[in-house]
Amino acid sequence: MEQDHQLAEKDFAAVINNLPEGTFYRFPLCSVHGVPLMKPIADRWKDMENVQARPDDILIVTYPKAGTTWMQEIVDSIMNDGEVEKTKRAPTYIRSPFLEKFAPPPLPSGLDVLNNTPSPRKIKTHLPFELVPKSFWEQKCKAVYFARNVKDTAVSYYFFDQMNKTQPDPGTWDQYVEKFLKGEVAWGSWFNHVIGWWNAKEKHDILYVFYEDMKEDPKREIRKVMEFLGKNLSEEVLDKVCHHTSFKAMKENPMTNYSTIPAIILDQARSPFMRKGEVGDWINHFTESQNKMFDEEYEKRMKGRDLKFRTTI
Ligand code: A3P
Repeated sequence: MEQDHQLAEKDFAAVINNLPEGTFYRFPLCSVHGVPLMKPIADRWKDMENVQARPDDILIVTYPKAGTTWMQEIVDSIMNDGEVEKTKRAPTYIRSPFLEKFAPPPLPSGLDVLNNTPSPRKIKTHLPFELVPKSFWEQKCKAVYFARNVKDTAVSYYFFDQMNKTQPDPGTWDQYVEKFLKGEVAWGSWFNHVIGWWNAKEKHDILYVFYEDMKEDPKREIRKVMEFLGKNLSEEVLDKVCHHTSFKAMKENPMTNYSTIPAIILDQARSPFMRKGEVGDWINHFTESQNKMFDEEYEKRMKGRDLKFRTTI
């Protein structure tokens, strides 16, 4: 199977480079049940509704830029019992397929990769709770939700939308901030996303983890994920997982830093995928009035809820 993974990854880069010019472009957003998604995802939405989950599937769920890749690496390391060398078998997107990922043939879509992935599958999705295929809940699958404060998420998404040539053009930072707060970006409103999944954990097997907590004390948070996944790793192995999933290690690791994706899709000269990996970088980008706008919206949407985010640690 490992060999299959490697072949798939090699083919992937080669095929992308040979696709006709114009295959990839900044896709417009289309509404799916009120949530803006990139057109190719919306066009294939029927396939998504018919996805068949397996009982041992693990969903790794985030709003974009919350640290998905970080959590994918943590989960894969834990599921490999801390034998982190095994995570080097293939890039993140092969080891942990992206449920709603679209791809023009002959590239495999997320669903194609999923169908050929051995159990237990570690499935990435950015879907808001209400759009996740029902089969995952019928099969009582586990989900790890990784959440990041809205200000750092907005900054990270802005840089990502510049370098990801398939996302809508972010425009200037000022324009982007307005769009982001209104939820007019791919996968919709940050507020709806984090609240929807927070409420869902009352009824489903969901572990809700915060990026800021993970930065503050990785070992403590990785241990929570480990326990949730029913694993029992020694302190020494946990230390190894912490080291392997640190920002520095992941930035240098070609299997996690997305350097295997050609620049016609991810232009890392514009902004690296592993950009800063910090809590509080928003301070370097927000104007005073933008900060006020975010604080007011946060107050309005979070009032009376027991869901709390930290924007500094
Ligand atoms: P920044 O742009 O703020 O640096 P996603 O995987 O959901 O696309 O999220 C990407 C964000 O997570 C980027 O944030 C990236 O640097 C950060 N990230 C990735 N791996 C990380 C790690 N090991 N530690 C801290 N942050 C990490």
